Amino acid sequence: KSARARTLVAPVIVSSDNVQYSEDEIISKYSYTDTKVTIGEDGTVTAFPQNSVFEFKTRRRVSRLGLMMVGLGGNNGTTVAAAMYAKKHSLEWQTRTGTHVSNYKGSLTQCGTFRVGTSSEDGTDVYSPLSSLVPMVNPDDMPVSGWDISGRNLADAMDSAQVLEPDLRNKLRPFVDKVVPLPAAFDTDFIADNQLPRADNLIPGQKQEQLEQLRRDIRNFKETQGLDEVVVIWTANSERYSKEIEGVNDTSENLLKAIQGNHPEVSPSTLYAVASILEGAPYVNGSPQNTLVPGCVKLAEELQVFICGDDFKSGQTKMKSVLVDYLIGCGVKVKTMVTYNHLGNNDMYQLTDQVMWKPKSAAKSKVIEDLVEANEVLYPNNEKPDHVVVVKYVPFLGDSKRDVSEYTSETFLDSHYTMIMHNECLDSALCAPLIIDLAVLCELFQRIRVKVQGSDEFKSMHPVLSALGFFMKIPKTAGEEPIVNALNRQRACIENLVKALVGLPAESHLLLPTKCQ
Ligand code: NAI
Repeated sequence: KSARARTLVAPVIVSSDNVQYSEDEIISKYSYTDTKVTIGEDGTVTAFPQNSVFEFKTRRRVSRLGLMMVGLGGNNGTTVAAAMYAKKHSLEWQTRTGTHVSNYKGSLTQCGTFRVGTSSEDGTDVYSPLSSLVPMVNPDDMPVSGWDISGRNLADAMDSAQVLEPDLRNKLRPFVDKVVPLPAAFDTDFIADNQLPRADNLIPGQKQEQLEQLRRDIRNFKETQGLDEVVVIWTANSERYSKEIEGVNDTSENLLKAIQGNHPEVSPSTLYAVASILEGAPYVNGSPQNTLVPGCVKLAEELQVFICGDDFKSGQTKMKSVLVDYLIGCGVKVKTMVTYNHLGNNDMYQLTDQVMWKPKSAAKSKVIEDLVEANEVLYPNNEKPDHVVVVKYVPFLGDSKRDVSEYTSETFLDSHYTMIMHNECLDSALCAPLIIDLAVLCELFQRIRVKVQGSDEFKSMHPVLSALGFFMKIPKTAGEEPIVNALNRQRACIENLVKALVGLPAESHLLLPTKCQ
């Protein structure tokens, strides 16, 4: 009997009336089905399935893309750079368990596969990577640059991060010991005092001068590397919240004026975001602070530049958004979620400051809201599970994050169901592949134009890239778009969107013909 599934990595060409391939573009028609629901005065619910047609044009030529990370010299920044240099130069390294070959395991775009369809030969499921359907950037070809408040070269920064194996660090040293992060935009008021000793690589001057320097940095990187596009990703320390003040950061105009006036509530991260938007470079906020203040979002909308936030969803929160989906999805009522992290890297050290911890704590606590709100059978009257999030700094453990979580639920006839979980992984190994995916997918989204039914104009997707919510703890959505936290729904969104670009239907999971006689 043949295998039930196989993976093909060759490009997939879709043969359908819904798609045309020209030399430059893939043009597709996608029939989107949703159901509108009305609730009558007597409480009756009526559902109306509705179809609308979206047309997509995807440029086939991939841009020459560069990645700029804010926090290049940190644990995530150096780990991403290490993987890209190692892969580009096919580095191998030894550990006590044997020889390892560079790879991008943990990355959705590089190692994930999805079901294309059923083989006409033998009925097996055929799987492919997303990049088999539409061309995507190869991260090996992506030059890396970025900023850091610490002026250590990347080889020394990798040593101090204690993430990579010593043999790999030694092999990387010749490639990265001359790479020094660009001077950073900095404000002591937005970061814990315990970070000040490393702040030796700063752009002088006030906020307007810092903004102009950041813009020059993006332009220089583009020019010197011969790039078509740059994506900027914040993977620097978690800042405190900035105050959202009318007249300061509520509109794009006020925000730009506030920068000119060196207003104390304009955070360094907002400066990076504004610089990126003004340079037409997509900006991703990998930390929980409110970088993307209303004025910043408005600027992105006005200039039609992608923004994506907030806070990478990499470890415990990712697990939470799977586990709670599973439990509530099975009709089990989660009553308590008590989760602990302990680790000893620099990010955790800075989070020992209670002001900096506040945004992180809020982000970690929000990740299941949509799942609970979706089930008023289990959770009537706004009831919510008890949710406790604790993190502790344990220096000896460095980047090795330990996560202990206990979930207690009520199941049949209110019997208790308790789950206890222990995870251990390098924090940066969880996060680095997400940064690569975000850069690769931002580049893809830059090449898409879409025409909605009733319009005669192809436009780029909405500047708030909620389609990348899979990678984010609190996905930033546009306007009234509801937030989706459940990981499977988020993954399906990316998968089905890529399928739509080549006129394939969304995955229904029905496998109907084999279920019928
Ligand atoms: P890290 O502390 O090792 O690196 C952060 C780097 O940012 C440091 O090198 C620091 O010098 C630099 N930095 C601080 N302020 C800066 C500024 N204004 N401009 C430029 N550089 C600046 O931290 P790590 O572990 O790399 O994490 C980075 C960020 O990613 C943190 O905010 C963390 O909360 C976030 N994150 C990480 C996750 C993970 O590692 N699994 C998951 C979710 C979010």
